[in-house]
Amino acid sequence: MASLAGALLAATSGAQANPSCDARPGADIYSAKCATCHSIVKDQPGTVGPSLWGVIGRRPASERGFAYSAAMSARKDRWSPAVIDWFLTDPPGRVPGTYMAFSGLKDAAARAAVICFLGTTSAHLK
Ligand code: HEC
Repeated sequence: MASLAGALLAATSGAQANPSCDARPGADIYSAKCATCHSIVKDQPGTVGPSLWGVIGRRPASERGFAYSAAMSARKDRWSPAVIDWFLTDPPGRVPGTYMAFSGLKDAAARAAVICFLGTTSAHLK
């Protein structure tokens, strides 16, 4: 896993890490829990889910070329770190009808770490 995480970090090294958090633990969690479904490459959907490149700050269900659920498409907010944290706690409970078949990250520190990692791909936040 460490080498996959390293590769993921290298893949996103064009964007600077958020200086207020360490993206490495989150990269490990991302590789273990999210990468099977999600890509972290701009405009390149994953096997099951949309790309998460630049997800922080973007509108839900806004990745072109990905067929989202009606439940996700109906959301009107933005993916701030707080909203991602809320969603990841219990995806099917938070957005009933979501296509994201993932029971969630119950550990707040794990959610914070993965959100930190996602922030390394959100160039507009620098
Ligand atoms: C089993 C596959 C799967 C796993 C594992 C998974 N996801 Fe998802 N994810 C999806 C799918 C499918 C969607 C689209 C949901 C919809 O349309 O309702 C999604 C949507 C999302 C969205 C909203 C994206 C957008 O463009 O609106 C975020 C954020 C997200 N996932 C984060 C994560 C994170 C972080 C992890 C790991 C902790 C993770 N997901 C694990 C399948 C998965």
